[in-house]
Amino acid sequence: VGYVGRTLDGRALEVVMEGLARLEYRGYDSAGVALVGPAADGSAPPVAVAKRAGKLANLRSELENHPLAPATTAIGHTRWATHGGPTDENAHPHLGGPDGRLALIHNGIIENFHALKQQLLADGVTFRSETDTEVAAHLVARAFDTTGDLTAAMLEVVAHLEGAFTLLAVHADAPGVVVGARRNSPLVVGLGEGENFLGSDVAAFIGHTREAMELGQDQVVTITPDAVSVVGFDGTPAEGRRYHVDWDAAAAEKGGFRSFMDKEIDEQPQAVADTLLGRTDAAGALVLDELRIDEEALKRVSKIVLVACGTASYAGMVAKYAIEHWTRIPCEVELAHEFRYRDPVVDDRTLVVSISQSGETMDTLMAVKHARELGAMTIAICNTHGSTIPRESDAVLYTHAGPEIAVASTKAFLAQITAVYVLGLYLAQLRGGTYADEAQAVMKELHEVPAKIRTVLDAMGRVREIARFMADSPAVLFLGRHVGYPVAMEGALKLKELAYIHAEGFAAGELKHGPIALVEPGQPVFVVVPSPSTEHGLHGKVVSNIQEIRARGARTLVIAEEGDESVVPFADEIISVPTVPTLLAPLLTVVPLQVFACELASAKGLDVDQPRNLAKSVTVE
Ligand code: G6P
Repeated sequence: VGYVGRTLDGRALEVVMEGLARLEYRGYDSAGVALVGPAADGSAPPVAVAKRAGKLANLRSELENHPLAPATTAIGHTRWATHGGPTDENAHPHLGGPDGRLALIHNGIIENFHALKQQLLADGVTFRSETDTEVAAHLVARAFDTTGDLTAAMLEVVAHLEGAFTLLAVHADAPGVVVGARRNSPLVVGLGEGENFLGSDVAAFIGHTREAMELGQDQVVTITPDAVSVVGFDGTPAEGRRYHVDWDAAAAEKGGFRSFMDKEIDEQPQAVADTLLGRTDAAGALVLDELRIDEEALKRVSKIVLVACGTASYAGMVAKYAIEHWTRIPCEVELAHEFRYRDPVVDDRTLVVSISQSGETMDTLMAVKHARELGAMTIAICNTHGSTIPRESDAVLYTHAGPEIAVASTKAFLAQITAVYVLGLYLAQLRGGTYADEAQAVMKELHEVPAKIRTVLDAMGRVREIARFMADSPAVLFLGRHVGYPVAMEGALKLKELAYIHAEGFAAGELKHGPIALVEPGQPVFVVVPSPSTEHGLHGKVVSNIQEIRARGARTLVIAEEGDESVVPFADEIISVPTVPTLLAPLLTVVPLQVFACELASAKGLDVDQPRNLAKSVTVE
């Protein structure tokens, strides 16, 4: 977060601390601020810095115990450690120069920091931390000593940096100025009156302004109380794109819920409804004008590859079943970081669809860039306007889940499945063929899903009880087939992320080929059962799988369609969900698993919004 205003009071610090609180989900193993301001007598005191390992609360108490003098200009940072452990020394900001008159914060990784550090060490520079960031701090401080201008100093230094970074710097001798630089890592400007803001995302300043400016890659931005100027890394003037943020501070607050995760799970009906909104015409046909991609090129697509990480990759796995069924186009799903570093078969008839809530996940971004280099068409499914992945793709289809603050994804997952389904149905409609007519019918069924999710949410009392009862379980297994298989994996991931419990999701058919050895008396196993109406007798196969594990003593927790009597004899617990066509079932069956993980983690006293070691947007590879 960066802030610059005119008045010499506590506002700069307040704004930055509030921004950090809103951005803490991005990383929370240490936090720090640096303040610059002319002293009341007009002199230029050194930069004032406070930083602490641990969550923002530690920094807050440090500031209470040792208050800083009022300032006009401030930067602040929450960290997710890459180089150097989460200690006070390694926390940002880092000071540059022998007398520490420059302070700098950084997201990303400076890949050539080692060589740059060796040079600085040879020149007699003393380092105070183990971070790659401190190298940049010293370099910018030096460049400032020769240029006397913070923007010029930043431009000089970024030319020598490799990797991905967002940098913000302030200098004691340049009060009233914050300079930022970005390459492959997010940075947005907030436009105020007599004050301006910088943030890794708009949440940083949403409490103060909803007018924002998007920066391009490889740009340096300079903010003062009255002006914002942007230049390319080569020094040529550039224009940022201004936009109005369509949600307000209330959307980024808990609003009476125990946690953001509880709130976001509850918002899922809306997330799905909003993602469907405006994507059909009066006659019910799909219209995706927003895609702005050549229809003829889409008609020629001979293969689809879905790339994503974490929960988003499970949305991709679900989508594969649906897209292949509706379009008959071969469809692969791959973890973005695996796709990037092998030799995938991709050509100009390949459509690479990336799925990312944040639009900033570096692994996914690199996969998209790679796909483009290989000549593929790229479409991003993304929840964050102005983020990097949509900018680097040929087209974007936004999910409208609203801001997702809890680190582990819930409502974005449902919105991702919805959006990628919309894309699949659109392709089916565009290309004609057997399933073209089905597209409208499926859209109609999709529109009925939000109310059904609400029904599931309203009946979660027993799931919460089970979760609290199971807080001491050492391990939980999840089984599913067909679209229930990625749902099982997502259920397991939620439990790992939130409750730190060993959990695995398996394809139910695979169980007998190995994992069944894990089943011992009392082992809890969730089973996602397909609708009895699912084709090819799939339902019966899963019911057999339940019997196999029950015979070996497993405690079976069965998620099944309401009225499905066939599972009753084999289920220790039944969680019913309303009837929907098989391909839409994940939008319902995953909900009890999210609630289960969230409730169990809360019962263990864990912070469900900020699980240990994780960060919401992982902007490093
Ligand atoms: C991180 C988060 C996960 C998320 C994944 C992908 O690992 O902790 O919850 O699923 O990133 O994030 P994206 O923003 O690309 O959807």
